Amino acid sequence: MRQELASHLRCPACRADRTLHLQVAERDAREVREGTLTCEACGASFPVQEGIVELLHEPPAHLLAEAAGLERFAAQMRADGWDREMIRRLPDVEHGYWYVQARSMHQLMSSIPFQPGQSILDVGSNTCWAANRFAQAGLDAIALDISTAELQGLRTAEYFIADGSVFFERLLGSMDAIPLASGSLDYVYCCEVLHHNDLASLRRTFEEIARVLRPGGRLLMVNETLKTLRDPDGVHVEGVEQYDGYEHAHWAWRYRWEATRAGLFTEVIEPHYRPFFGDPAFSVRGAQARLVGPIVRRLSRAAQELTPARKAYLSWLNHCWGTVSMNMIATKPVRGLGRARTLARLRGSRRRAERRG
Ligand SMILES: C[S@@+](CC[C@H](N)C(=O)[O-])C[C@H]1O[C@@H](n2cnc3c(N)ncnc32)[C@H](O)[C@@H]1O
Ligand SMILES: [Zn+2]
Repeated sequence: MRQELASHLRCPACRADRTLHLQVAERDAREVREGTLTCEACGASFPVQEGIVELLHEPPAHLLAEAAGLERFAAQMRADGWDREMIRRLPDVEHGYWYVQARSMHQLMSSIPFQPGQSILDVGSNTCWAANRFAQAGLDAIALDISTAELQGLRTAEYFIADGSVFFERLLGSMDAIPLASGSLDYVYCCEVLHHNDLASLRRTFEEIARVLRPGGRLLMVNETLKTLRDPDGVHVEGVEQYDGYEHAHWAWRYRWEATRAGLFTEVIEPHYRPFFGDPAFSVRGAQARLVGPIVRRLSRAAQELTPARKAYLSWLNHCWGTVSMNMIATKPVRGLGRARTLARLRGSRRRAERRG
């Protein structure tokens, strides 16, 4: 960790903001590698090890089991040939899952008006590939996870930061008790992670996200696992059970309601990896067009151009049909600016970013 981070932290024991004092035991040119953070309010202390700030306080048993499962999963990945070079290439590897991740990151980077120096928390950062992308874009990125496992947790960050070309912070902690001070972030990025919550911790997590965002700050919820009418379980247990994953899909309305309940203004976003919503190269006008007849193609093209049809189709996918995961932007209100003006601002800035991108 870097010294400056200490003043943005929250003590996970007494939940006081900016009370952690850093004692440095060892540092290198990049950061503090070993040290201790002590809370001036309650006296609790927390280690900094290999640059990782360890602020996971009294975790529940299921969370420790999940972290242990990720160690086992990392061993499996190693056996399957995953190594530093492959991780450094993420998300640009040939695989359906990573295709979706790459398209989604491209969509985000070309539609959100990120400014160098803005702060972003990558929740459930796992291999830290997204924190790396944000850091490359000049953002002050922080990776948060419950696991330090190399290949499946925060120690994987070394693959990206060891050569000094980028830097991002690594926090061991839980999304339902984020160890960061209130109002300290411009963005919170959650990609395929909110479903690692039961209903009670999902509620706490949205409250925590709303707390750590500054007014006008945004939650970027990407590819969240859904329950739908066609698939009311949403999570398929085989691999999940083997590695003690704590996974619970939620309904689309639930993610939106919990964000709203936490005081955020929400907007559900179209996933561009889905041909209907995507850019022309991937749409029914492109490669997929050969699979459908000319009448279907024409109808589909007309629907693509109609906002109500797009909204209805997105809603049908998110609630009934599935085959997509859910994307949503949730903005913390700015005093004196209502929902309509906040969302109009968001749309305007997204349009400008898209034109630039
Ligand atoms: C499916 S992976 C996320 C993938 C990652 N965001 C990506 O896009 O590659 C879920 C991650 O969430 C982490 N996680 C699970 N519960 C968590 C919690 N309570 N707080 C923070 N991270 C958590 C897991 O350790 C795991 O790394
Ligand atoms: Zn404290």
